[in-house]
Amino acid sequence: MINNDIEELTQKFLNCDYIENTFDYYQNLIEVLIYHNNLYYIYNTPSISDYQYDLLFDLLKKIEKENQDIISPNSPTQRLVGQIQNSYKTYNHDFPMLSLENAYDTKDLFEKDKFIKKRLNTEFNYSLEPKFDGSSVELIYKNGVFEKAITRGDGFVGEDITENIKVIETVPLYLKNAKNISYIILRGEIVMPKSSFNKLNKKREKEGKSLFANPRNAATGTLRQLDPQVVADRKLVCFIYELTYISSEIIFDKIKTQKDIFIFLKNLGFTVYDWLKITDNIQDLVNICQDIKTKNYFENQNIEFDGIVIKVNQINFRKKLGETNHHPRWAIAYKFPAKQIVTKILDVELNVSRSASINPVAILQTVNLSGVNISRVSLHNWDFISQKDIKIGDNVWIQRSGEVIPYIVGVIKEKRDGNEKEILAPNLCPICDSKIIKVDTDVNYYCSNINCPSVIKEKIVHFVSKNCLDIDGIGEKLIYMLVDNGFIKHYADLYYLKDKINYLKSLPLLGEKRINDILEKIENSKKTFLRRFINGLGIKFVGKKTSKILENSIYEDLKYNNIDISKFNHQKLIKYLTDQTFLSNIHGIGDKIIFSLKQTFENQENLQILYELEKVGVVLNNFYNQKSILDSKLSGIKFCITGSFDIKRDEIIKILENNGAEFLSQVSSKLDFLIVGKGGGSKLQKAKKEGIKTISLDDLYTKYNL
Ligand code: IVH
Repeated sequence: MINNDIEELTQKFLNCDYIENTFDYYQNLIEVLIYHNNLYYIYNTPSISDYQYDLLFDLLKKIEKENQDIISPNSPTQRLVGQIQNSYKTYNHDFPMLSLENAYDTKDLFEKDKFIKKRLNTEFNYSLEPKFDGSSVELIYKNGVFEKAITRGDGFVGEDITENIKVIETVPLYLKNAKNISYIILRGEIVMPKSSFNKLNKKREKEGKSLFANPRNAATGTLRQLDPQVVADRKLVCFIYELTYISSEIIFDKIKTQKDIFIFLKNLGFTVYDWLKITDNIQDLVNICQDIKTKNYFENQNIEFDGIVIKVNQINFRKKLGETNHHPRWAIAYKFPAKQIVTKILDVELNVSRSASINPVAILQTVNLSGVNISRVSLHNWDFISQKDIKIGDNVWIQRSGEVIPYIVGVIKEKRDGNEKEILAPNLCPICDSKIIKVDTDVNYYCSNINCPSVIKEKIVHFVSKNCLDIDGIGEKLIYMLVDNGFIKHYADLYYLKDKINYLKSLPLLGEKRINDILEKIENSKKTFLRRFINGLGIKFVGKKTSKILENSIYEDLKYNNIDISKFNHQKLIKYLTDQTFLSNIHGIGDKIIFSLKQTFENQENLQILYELEKVGVVLNNFYNQKSILDSKLSGIKFCITGSFDIKRDEIIKILENNGAEFLSQVSSKLDFLIVGKGGGSKLQKAKKEGIKTISLDDLYTKYNL
């Protein structure tokens, strides 16, 4: 990516200490500008500031003004935007633009290899390159000058999109080193870099326009614009990967392999993606493909790829293998699992959360996306619904990448048939029919009933969850059953369940063993860490992170004032959490949190529950820091985690934290270890760059005898 020669040249231009005859000076300046443009738009890693780029651009304009006779058609100043067009003319391809055969698993690759080996019956090798997720294009040059750009269309007839392609800066308007080439046809892909895509969608969102589902749709949609200025603004990029035809046989005969094609294309001035692997061994090839797929290898690139294209490397063997009507027999695309999929919204369910907000959830026609069945997705609130104009019956794009919860990217409005139904905001609570509260400053609708059964259930579900009291064995179903049967009205009631064993036995699915197990876990939870207890209270704006900050600050204050930590209790906690002076001096605790804490503890009912928890024996004198300093194997060690593991991440973090380690969500120089699972992505790369130690979970367990 970084080219040191051009970097050096850049500095010379910027320092004005470059001496050369005008023509070379001018040509080099063009090269420098094209290089920085590519760094910015393709790789998203500029090496000079916008200001410096503008200085160089102004310099170019100045030279062109003073030396009009040397102006090059490839100069960034020469991409004049043409007229708005009315429609696109069709164009018959000189050679059919075929598609690719797809391989979804390694079995398909072995079969393809068998087929090719049988047909060729001689030694050969394969080339592997990324498969661009964009819009296929054919470029034609006559006597070294850009002539036409055609879409693939049906493979035989495409559309002439020359005016739109002309404004893409990676498409040379004039070829270099092409003296003997009177006619050449090339094939490549027009893509929208992820950074440009994100910027474009943000802008569209602000303007209330529908969003593009992915960079491919954005690139295709942009190419369909009749106004080339719109195309110019959206910063598309063109990568070339195939040579379809060249008029010079002498040159063609020198091009023997895919690598030769890439070198040749680069020489002409095209942008080629510099990633090409060669192998003559099918098992090797399969390993490379699998490795790239499982490690999500291209995830951090600014260009979206949806697979790997495997080609027979030797051009003369390609001719021998030939093609079908649909695809060449000498190539195959190994596809990555889709990150997005289209499905239908069948219905909308309204849930009431522990904060009493009413949350719409879309019930979907079940789809499998990267190995996970998805049948529900949150619609968040009615602002989100109206912003995306979502209706029941709509076809929508669902996206999920890595561990991210699936979400709706956008609606495919073209698929509407008029039977779609509005998603109406509620008039009454969908659970208890109470009145709804809605204020302008909040996007949510709320149930007005403080005893709404759903609110009660969700508060208890939160209280027992992993990051709170962590009472394993009590799931959502059981909590719902206990609330519905009137056994518990609040989480403090959990600690009275031991007095209701006979009632519990009468419930379905609850055998004696399970009841004992649950009761034991409830008892054990009485000695939780303070941070977990605070989090469990479910106070608005006081989640896991804030609870940790509060616990640490209280601990420091107790120590500083020499107060006996073992006597810390519920009353003292309330005192701290309502002490405005104490709270406002804590870094990370803002007015919103302070106000929320004040409101919570002004409410008598909330205070009552807290004292109830004290009465049943929940103690609050367990401070996390105290433990880590005294007796922990990983005390003071800071770690972060990337990739996937056989056990859940939360579980790993809990084990390590219980041993005194500190978890950081981002890679920074403060880290001691990055724990790497399968397919570590951007974090792994960053850690390597910054020289941070990486370790597998197994090695960490062995090293610290966990
Ligand atoms: S080679 C068909 N190489 O993928 C013969 N195609 O899904 C030449 N594509 O329509 C194609 N990246 O436009 C080739 N590195 C690459 C590619 C690539 C993307 C496109 C191609 C094709 C589509 C098939």
